[in-house]
Amino acid sequence: MRNWINIPRVEGRASRQAHADLPDGTFEHEIGREGFFGPAAHIHHAHAPTGWVRFEGPIRPRAFDTTKFDAVPDSAWAAEPLAGNRRCAVRFWRIEAPMDHLARNADGDELLFVHDGAGDLFCDFGHMSYTEGDYLLLPRGTMWRLEPSAPTRILMIEATDSAYKLPDKGIVGPHAIFDPAILAVPEIDAAFDDQRSEAETRVAVKRFGQVSTMVFPYNPLDAVGWHGDLAPVKVNWRDIRPLMSHRYHLPPSAHTTFVGERFVVCTFVPRPIETDPGALKVPFFHSNVDYDEFIFYHRGSFFSRDNIHPGMISLHPAGFAHGPHPKAFATGQKAARKETDEVAVMIDTRDPLEVQAGAASVEWTGYVDSWRTAPAATNEAAE
Ligand SMILES: [Fe+2]
Repeated sequence: MRNWINIPRVEGRASRQAHADLPDGTFEHEIGREGFFGPAAHIHHAHAPTGWVRFEGPIRPRAFDTTKFDAVPDSAWAAEPLAGNRRCAVRFWRIEAPMDHLARNADGDELLFVHDGAGDLFCDFGHMSYTEGDYLLLPRGTMWRLEPSAPTRILMIEATDSAYKLPDKGIVGPHAIFDPAILAVPEIDAAFDDQRSEAETRVAVKRFGQVSTMVFPYNPLDAVGWHGDLAPVKVNWRDIRPLMSHRYHLPPSAHTTFVGERFVVCTFVPRPIETDPGALKVPFFHSNVDYDEFIFYHRGSFFSRDNIHPGMISLHPAGFAHGPHPKAFATGQKAARKETDEVAVMIDTRDPLEVQAGAASVEWTGYVDSWRTAPAATNEAAE
């Protein structure tokens, strides 16, 4: 337990409530520690914190477009590597035909987010169908395969050397956001019975990033039953009932879905936009100085970003301010929209994310310049 030096002070012309009632003609910039849980300052600037005209050096805001991937690898372990660090590995996988082998991740839990497509998952624990918008959480060591019934694209998020947990729901209690009872588990059902066989079966096991293959003279997905408190689980973003306030723009941490070791996975789902006249209506400018932020845009129109379509990714390294794009900022503050329809998956990592070859091959290099048109300040835009 760390004892932060807490010094709530107010200096100069300032609001006393974060993200609301900003002084006229100013931009709020949050500088925050420990995600959105540590000490923070809200500085009221005359200019937007993203108003750079030049950006030099290797570390910068970046964007990538997964719709440009055309390879369809036959193994999950050949998926496009996007970004990672010692605690987390993110890949992008296209699969169109049933897997002819089983996969097993010995490096950590694997979280599959189904960007599009549908089909069936068969694993040690039985059978589950999957569809667009599902998270499938496969505990480390589970043997599994997918049988797509429609071409499927998946964001894969590995919790390297750790296990996913649910976030602490704090004062809203365990049933808020989604009730754990809604998590589906695989069943030993007729579809599972139908896939039993004595056919020779390969299992591709990934350990230390290397793949080894075990061959069995039968299909090892042969369970007749199981019990325990460890199993793959499935939850769709449509099962998430987001926290919101009509008077306060909640920080992204309110949308945490899964917690890994030194990173979190959050899901932004449709919700009404704040209605209080003084409340910020788009994400606030911030420097979340301890975390890198990776966002995969799944569907809808992204209310804080211009020129981002479903399947794209933005990566904002710690230490550089980020926030809404100029056009989004202006329309957002005018309350032209009553709700956001965006669905996005955010991965916030405590350790720096290294961009990997797959992502680099589909980079939109103009992203760093995309804030260039200066937005009008808060209360001017709100007129
Ligand atoms: Fe952020």
